[in-house]
Formats: sequence, structure tokens, C-alpha cells
Amino acid sequence: MRRCYSRTVPADLNYHVPVTSRTQVAIVGAGPAGLMLGHLLHRQGIDSVIVENRSQQHVIERVRAGVLEQGTVDLMNETGIGQRLEREGLRHDGFFIAFNGSRHRIDMAALTGGRAITIYGQNEVVKDLIEARQATGRPLVFEAEDVSVGGLRTAAPIVRFTAGGVAHELTCDFIGGCDGFHGVCRPSIPDAAIRVFERVYPFGWLGILAEAPPSSSELVYSLHERGFALFSMRSPSITRLYLQCAHDEDAGAWSDERIWSELGARLATSDGWKPTEGPIVQRGVTGMRSFVAEPMRFGRLFLAGDSAHIVPPTGAKGLNLAMADVYRLAFAIAEYYRTGRERLLDLYSERALRRTWRAQRFSFWMTSMLHRDDGGNPFDYRRQIADLEYLFSSRAAMTSLAESYAGAPFENR
Ligand code: APR
Ligand code: PHB
Repeated sequence: MRRCYSRTVPADLNYHVPVTSRTQVAIVGAGPAGLMLGHLLHRQGIDSVIVENRSQQHVIERVRAGVLEQGTVDLMNETGIGQRLEREGLRHDGFFIAFNGSRHRIDMAALTGGRAITIYGQNEVVKDLIEARQATGRPLVFEAEDVSVGGLRTAAPIVRFTAGGVAHELTCDFIGGCDGFHGVCRPSIPDAAIRVFERVYPFGWLGILAEAPPSSSELVYSLHERGFALFSMRSPSITRLYLQCAHDEDAGAWSDERIWSELGARLATSDGWKPTEGPIVQRGVTGMRSFVAEPMRFGRLFLAGDSAHIVPPTGAKGLNLAMADVYRLAFAIAEYYRTGRERLLDLYSERALRRTWRAQRFSFWMTSMLHRDDGGNPFDYRRQIADLEYLFSSRAAMTSLAESYAGAPFENR
């Protein structure tokens, strides 16, 4: 099915009558989850329409996290969209945790039999996926308005939206609810059919991008009496840094000087290491939340990615969890079209939730080990230091951390 979604309606047409169309899978949201789902389905010859409410530019420029697990890297490579990642991604075999003025290294590759992470901005992943989608000619609608989903318990659910002033009714076999935490899919599930588990943290992260060559070749997570800080990067010339702040912090109230001084205070170690400073080109505050919706399915609607779960960013799991979901979902949908069997679709929620809760556990643990609570209880700080000292005294404990951080291979059954 090919249809132009951006045409404007001639004045003499009655545009209250929606344009109807059909596809196999309607995907709501063009973030990493929705775009990768469309990509995986396309490779199986399955038709989809992706409906996104923001502009292409907004989606591409949105600065998010940037740590890809091996599973995400493998998925991109194996499905033909890994060329730029291969060239520009920065492979890291380990990372540092700093406390009491020293940096300690977790040798992830050595502890996990060679698994590593790759630094590559989430918006770069999105850019590659959009390019791949547009090359297929399959529909990807940006700036859709009034998006809604219906008929979820029928065999022909519907996604309704308006594009270019034209109302559309898209009938399909399945809906991929990939519209993130604030989307419309999860709230369309009746309250009695969904249960949510949630924890909101009393702090957030102030994140910046700086035009400064990274002064460490690997990430540095730091527990400091003044609060958590993280040193990361995007390229050999761009550093990405975060500071623990109040959950409702006004990023604009921080001068560049104050940001650098706070980063220096929390990250600098006694061997003289500190982040290199440079012009700050982007800044923003992210709240911290742990959230899971169960089940991740209602009738023919399948939730994937942030629409079903949110993890605090300390474990770098959000994007990877979204990728693991859609890898599983695409396989289950493909099996349905190939064989008519719904077995994997029926298992989707339970199996995706198992990985989700593992990531929740890890992200919560990393967050509570490295952040200071409101008021900064000195008992907790000493306990956190003891936790970290134990971690670096025990190969078993470091292996456990490295395994979770690197991420388990993606599974599809
Ligand atoms: N209609 C259509 N699209 C919508 C709607 C709606 N009503 N509401 C939201 N969207 C779009 C958003 O604009 C966004 O582009 O859905 C997309 C959801 O993308 P993400 O929020 O990036 O979520 P996801 O694809 O699940 O990716 C998870 O992204 O948010 C990070 O930390 C998260 O790294 C993780 C990853
Ligand atoms: C990032 O580079 O944006 C980043 C790195 C590690 C995290 C979170 C974010 O845990």
C-alpha cells in the first residue's frame, strides 16, 4: 500500500470523511522502538505504516542517551544498518567508577568473555533508521495530529490520525504501541486490564554536550558527597556530561561557569584527571523514573519500549530495552504471518517483562549506589562507599555488574 499522507485537501472536498487505508502493522511512534520495528518487519516482507506526531527534524535532533549494548550493535549490523555505526561508533571494553577521589575500572570485556558497549548517540540510531525506512518507500508519517487507537480487541484494530489536514483511518492486523511514555497507546488500555509499577526519584540529571575532546577514553560514573556525576562522550571532539540535580531543576539557571565548577568538583580525581572544558552546545534536565506496565499487550495492541517501561538512565538500558522488545515482537509477528500460529505473540509480554524487570533491578541498583538522597544522609554515603569498596574487592561482584551493564544477548522466543 502506498499513499501520500501529506497532501492537502482541495477546498471543494468534504474533509470530514476520513481517508481509509489498510496495512498489516500500524506503528505509533517513530522513536528507536517504532522505527526498528518497522525495519525488522520490512525485512520479513511485512507491510507497516509508522505514524509519528513530531517533525522529522525534532525526532532526529532530540538529544538522548548514547550507550549501545552489544545486542543493539549486532542487531543493527545484522539487519544492514550498521555502516555508519561501524565507522563512527566508539567501542568501549570497560568503564570507570570514581569514589573517594580515585577511579576504579570495570574491565567489562575481560569479565564477560568479550562483550562491550558502543558509544553512538540515540539520535544517530534514529537518523540511520529513518534513512533506511525512507529508502524502502514504506509510509512514515511525521507531524500526525490527533492520533488515536481503537478496536483493540477486534481482529481489525484502527489507528486514526490527521496528516496535512486530512483525517485518516488506518485498519490493520496489529498495532505496535511504540509512542513512548507520554503516548496514547498505553492510556487506551482500560484501567482494569493493566497494572503499573512505579517509583519516582527525588532527583534528576542536568545533562550537557560540550565541544571538548573527551579527557578519558572510557565513561566515568562518580559518587561524590556533592552528588552523582557522569562523564561520557559522543565523538572524539564532543563530551557528554551529567550532574545529579533537583528533579525540577531549571537548566537555564545554571551558568556555564557553575556547571564546569560543579563537574570539576564531583569528577576530578587525585591523580589529576578531570573533564576537559569547552563551549556548552546543548543542555537539559531529565527526571528519573522507574516504571513498568503489565502486561505489555491488550488484544491486538502490543506495547514496546518507553510506552511500557522507563528505567533511570544510570544503567544505560532504556534504548537497549526498547530494541530487545521490538526484536522479540517482530519475530513473533513474522511467525504469525508465516505459520498462522500465535504462540510467540502470546508469550511476548511475559518474556519481554522478564528482561524488563532484570533491567529495572540493575538500573535501580546503579542509581541507588551512585546518587545521594535528598538531605544526604551520612550513613547512606558511608554505606555506598562500602558497597563500592566491596564491588572492587570482589571479582564475582564486578562480573555481576559487567554482565548486567553489557546486557544479555537479545532473545526472540
Ligand atoms: N502519536 C504518535 N507518536 C507519538 C505520540 C502520539 N500520540 N506520542 C508520542 N509519540 C512519539 C514521540 O514523539 C517519539 O518520537 O513516539 C516516539 C517515542 O519514542 P521514544 O520516546 O524515543 O521511545 P522509544 O522508541 O520506546 O525508545 C526508547 O528512547 O526515550 C528514550 O530513554 C529512552 O532510550 C530510550 C528510548
Ligand atoms: C550518555 O552518554 O548519554 C549516557 C551514558 C551512560 C549512561 C547514561 C547516558 O548511563
